[in-house]
Amino acid sequence: MAKTKTKYVCQSCGYESPRWMGRCPGCSNWNTLVEEIERKTKTNRPSTGLTSRKPIKITSIESQEEPRILTSLKEFNRVLGGGIVHGSLVLIGGDPGIGKSTLLLQISSQLAEQQLPVLYISGEESTRQTKLRADRLNVSSDLLYVLAETNLFDIANHIEELKPSLVIVDSIQTIYKDEVTSAPGSVSQVRECTSELMRIAKTNHIPIFIVGHVTKEGAIAGPRVLEHMVDTVLYFEGERHHTYRILRSVKNRFGSTNEMGIFEMKEEGLKEVMNPSEIFLEERSKGAAGSTVVASMEGTRPVLVEIQALISPTSFGNPRRMATGVDYNRIPLLMAVLEKRVGLMLQNQDAYVKVAGGVKLDEPAIDLAISVSIASSFRNQPTRPDDIFIGEVGLTGEVRRVSRIEQRVQEAAKLGFKRVICPQKNIDGWTLPETIEIIGVNTVQEALNIGLHR
Ligand SMILES: Nc1ncnc2c1ncn2[C@@H]1O[C@H](COP(=O)(O)OP(=O)(O)OP(=O)(O)O)[C@@H](O)[C@H]1O
Ligand SMILES: [Mg+2]
Repeated sequence: MAKTKTKYVCQSCGYESPRWMGRCPGCSNWNTLVEEIERKTKTNRPSTGLTSRKPIKITSIESQEEPRILTSLKEFNRVLGGGIVHGSLVLIGGDPGIGKSTLLLQISSQLAEQQLPVLYISGEESTRQTKLRADRLNVSSDLLYVLAETNLFDIANHIEELKPSLVIVDSIQTIYKDEVTSAPGSVSQVRECTSELMRIAKTNHIPIFIVGHVTKEGAIAGPRVLEHMVDTVLYFEGERHHTYRILRSVKNRFGSTNEMGIFEMKEEGLKEVMNPSEIFLEERSKGAAGSTVVASMEGTRPVLVEIQALISPTSFGNPRRMATGVDYNRIPLLMAVLEKRVGLMLQNQDAYVKVAGGVKLDEPAIDLAISVSIASSFRNQPTRPDDIFIGEVGLTGEVRRVSRIEQRVQEAAKLGFKRVICPQKNIDGWTLPETIEIIGVNTVQEALNIGLHR
């Protein structure tokens, strides 16, 4: 009898080893290596459905921009870079209960209503459970097929038989392939199943959406390799206590990343939010010290968000610095600039900085707004409620140019703001709009002189 070969695979990074080890050399996690039986398949050459047999000239390949499939959720189309691409494999990750199945069921029903057959494969819920959700969401269409199946071979057969226009696999962690001996949800299973789904998507030209669970740390469970394999990775996030949900693209082979779609969870499903700035500014306390508004770019769209700071004298030896929604390391840096270049004595002050509304901002153009918020709270001088601050702050206290200033200003004007305080360098070279006053500044000091009430 042939000897079975076993290997040990790390469940967190996919590292393989012939021997068991307590600590994975790949990702330094303890106790993550699990024994899996290796089985040689007859063909060693995996077919991805992408390979062409001979090298061909790039100029001789036909290229045609294919029409994408559009859903009626415009936010969703935009996050995907303008609709669903035929033959693409899209991974959607998110915390438990955030609404992944709800979103995908809604998308499915919308396509079914456009006379495109959709196959919804649920490995986690029975068909009856899916039906219950469908009833709540008012989904009913003859072209929406539901399948409760976890065996990949059967799934592949059904796809090939039905030839749907879209396939949803509700959770890759429940799907298994017979040839792989490890349990569903293990690294090998997830990897093998995903590459098989990739092959099905590419050869049949069918877009497939797969749901992936996230781990405690917030990464998609299973190895990082999963994110490399698929065409697009979307994260569905939001706070459980808020009804707003944010769909974010972190990788997209067919469009810009950092796009963000905002939805509201309602009894009858997810509703898209067309003007997020209004929501983020809804609860703003106007005229309070420590609050400013910034126009930040989320992908190709500007959103206005409030940045709050609270500066209070520290009662311990080490002052505390806390940041929610912005990079923690920017806070001490900007405070050092304020201390050295503007002369604010911040070293014995606690600082708390927060982006209101649960959004995360990670572009440098928000530096100026953070600095002004900090100074405003420290001096207890409010900013004018109809001011917007845009700009990157350098270490010498200079305010540096940012990208896409026109769009940011337009959004501010649309929402009724009166003044934009932005980098002087940005002002040159475009005709200023008349509806809003634009003030160029060169340093943080200048911005504070203009922005803070005396
Ligand atoms: N009757 C209802 N009214 C309003 N909201 C509801 C109702 N039923 C469920 N929800 C919302 O739907 C969410 C569950 O959505 P869904 O099952 O799509 O999440 P999921 O991300 O697929 O979860 P899982 O990770 O368990 O698969 C709940 O957390 C809740 O916010
Ligand atoms: Mg679900």
